Amino acid sequence: MATFDLNGKEVTVDVPDDTPLLWVLRDEMQMTGTKFGCGVAQCGACTVMLNGMTRRSCVTPISMVDGSSVTTIEGMDGPETKAVQAAWESLDVPQCGWCQSGQVMSASALLREIPKPTDEDIDNAMAGNICRCATYVRIRKAIHDAADSLEG
Ligand code: FES
Ligand code: FES
Repeated sequence: MATFDLNGKEVTVDVPDDTPLLWVLRDEMQMTGTKFGCGVAQCGACTVMLNGMTRRSCVTPISMVDGSSVTTIEGMDGPETKAVQAAWESLDVPQCGWCQSGQVMSASALLREIPKPTDEDIDNAMAGNICRCATYVRIRKAIHDAADSLEG
């Protein structure tokens, strides 16, 4: 059993303590924007915010989430995320789309921390988010564009 804040709303789930948060989000909460990729913290597709920090939900047991605050792609808001989403749309970043909610989560977190990231900052921050369609060049450009739009 765990009670936590999910996208601004308190929820309680009755599942075994070792159930991964990703399973709870997708199967119990029908929040399917967060994707399953590898299941072993290697691809970033399942990235959510846990207490404001990016976290791989596939390896986060629900017992660790009790009393915490979780934000998924469905609940992401704020200027950084809006700027990232606008840049993503304008550059047509996604290809198949599977990795993209995780990419947007990590990009938003980066811009919250470093408003004007360099290529190196971007590569470091996004290194844990794998894209099998290799949209990396567009992702990097979109993050720069989002940073520029926030500056203006
Ligand atoms: S599904 Fe969690 S990191 Fe790949
Ligand atoms: S857009 Fe297909 S995996 Fe990234």
